[in-house]
Amino acid sequence: MIRSHSCGELSLPQVGQTVTLAGWVASRRDHGGVIFIDIRDRYGLTQIVFDSEENAPLHAVADRLRNEYVISITGKVSVRPDESENLHLPTGRIEIRAQTLELLNEAKPLPFSVEDDVHTSESLRLEHRYLDLRRPKMQQLLQLRSQVSHLTRQYLHEKQFIEVETPILTKSTPEGARDYLVPSRVNPGDFFALPQSPQLFKQILMIGGLDRYFQIARCFRDEDLRLDRQPEFTQIDLEMSFVEREDIMQLIEDLIRLLFKDTKHIDLPNPIPRLTYEEAMSRYGTDKPDQRFELLLQDLSEFAKTCDFQVFRRAIESGGMVKGLIIPKGAAFTRNRIDNLIETAKEFGAKGLAWVKINDEGQLDSSIAKFLNTAALREALPSANPGDLLVFVADQATTVHQVLGRLRLLLGEELQLVDRTRWEPLWVTDFPMFEYDEASQRHVALHHPFTAPHPEDIPLLDSAPLEAKTLAYDLVLNGFELGGGSIRIHSPNMQEKVFDLLKISKEEAREKFGFLLDALESGAPPHGGIALGLDRLIMLLGQTESIRDTIPFPKTQKAQCLMTHAPSSVAPEQLQELSIRTTTKKPTADS
Ligand code: AMO
Ligand code: AMP
Repeated sequence: MIRSHSCGELSLPQVGQTVTLAGWVASRRDHGGVIFIDIRDRYGLTQIVFDSEENAPLHAVADRLRNEYVISITGKVSVRPDESENLHLPTGRIEIRAQTLELLNEAKPLPFSVEDDVHTSESLRLEHRYLDLRRPKMQQLLQLRSQVSHLTRQYLHEKQFIEVETPILTKSTPEGARDYLVPSRVNPGDFFALPQSPQLFKQILMIGGLDRYFQIARCFRDEDLRLDRQPEFTQIDLEMSFVEREDIMQLIEDLIRLLFKDTKHIDLPNPIPRLTYEEAMSRYGTDKPDQRFELLLQDLSEFAKTCDFQVFRRAIESGGMVKGLIIPKGAAFTRNRIDNLIETAKEFGAKGLAWVKINDEGQLDSSIAKFLNTAALREALPSANPGDLLVFVADQATTVHQVLGRLRLLLGEELQLVDRTRWEPLWVTDFPMFEYDEASQRHVALHHPFTAPHPEDIPLLDSAPLEAKTLAYDLVLNGFELGGGSIRIHSPNMQEKVFDLLKISKEEAREKFGFLLDALESGAPPHGGIALGLDRLIMLLGQTESIRDTIPFPKTQKAQCLMTHAPSSVAPEQLQELSIRTTTKKPTADS
């Protein structure tokens, strides 16, 4: 045994014992004749004392130690003198008086110091991830992740779920992002796709009679990266047969409450509140509302119908709406600040942002005030008070909601309205089945094309498909989409009908999803499921700002790994073997 104890476990009960610890030098403090070393491992820190009067040669060796050297020391656990106790550390009442020291490995001068408050760029941290991973914060996050996976497995196993692995080399599934492709050497010109999710396989598993499936599944999506997105991420993915949507929502609510309680002692509400998609869009301008603050969207469409402001009236006449935000105490905003707000609204897609201050006398103060009837406006917005600023967007519903939804989040941050101690989970249900995509002039599935329509809305698929709602549900937490799922289509006729509405031809459907259609025709049970984003869950639970902190070896915004330098060029022979020629002029690996 290289060590008898970890660096986190010694305290008063072990005083007097001779122990051996191994770990990294976290710090070295030289107090003349005495050197103090903090030795660190995953479990904690312990203080070691090298006293030149007790052991001069050993003190001399300790003098050569530098941060991140790997050492093993043997010595006696002693009580620290009163004034040098550190009550913040579990090991803070004791220290080890060193008797032997073995230098196991040296470390080069460090690009940054290993501590929680690192003052360094994220790229340097990612390049030297092995150092970054030594930081307590990173270790805690990975431990949290492991704990969540473990609790999830345990919970689902207890509920009769079977853990099944599905292929990584597969055919593309339509989750809406670009696929990562893998060329097939033995089938020249053909490609596998990495799975965007196990969606079709889990449905096939239900048709295969597995009844309850789960997997902590790696997914791959080649999409624009954001704060909460990685190209390679992990889902807690599950599917169940002979269930209704309530069964799945209940199962997931219980799981998520258990995870928050067991890992962080946080009590999430029971039941988790729900909003329909329509309500969420209408009040928050988004299908993933952050309910930790108010600042709801205010509908001014009725008022706008009869007002004298042309911009408002015309928006209503062309089938649009007028909505706004009441910014508390916003009347104090300078002209410059309002101009910035208008610019931001335009960046978000608005044609303009109308604004009105309500002054302390309750009068309107704005360049458009002359078009607005004060009493009527105040009546339309009873919750607006003197001292507030009102901002409005007049446009089609999609634009109004998108712009105000984003402005709401921005103002929530700027005005510090977000209560960071609150946890606000939420189910969003009854999503529309389709959206109309102007670019391609056709319907596209809002979730994925295997989502079942609401039984009452089936007739709408023929008469007004855009009004048909689905049996889909998203779990939202503090403004992040944590998961999504649905009851699936299990009738082959309905599946073909939906492909048809999506303008997927019979041939294309056969080519892409033939196996699913065949399976649906072979006795498919009613089924449904959900997938939770594990990385996002850890990001929220671990209260870290970046999804990259939850992944041991993440990619950058440019989808690169700074440690291994992937993706990288390959040797020409490798390409040749794969029957691939590239069109970029980049040098290949050995040219
Ligand atoms: P969906 O596409 O909504 O559904 O994905 C489910 C959850 O996965 C997480 N997620 C991501 N996390 C990090 N980086 C990404 N790029 C990323 N993309 C998605 C989100 C999201 O809510 N097959 C369906 C599920 C089903 O219907 O059962 C699916 O994949 O937290
Ligand atoms: P204009 O008539 O374009 O000079 O606009 C008058 C005011 O209305 C300006 O403050 C614009 O920012 C605002 N405005 C213009 N278009 C819109 C719109 N679609 N929604 C809300 N405000 C708008």
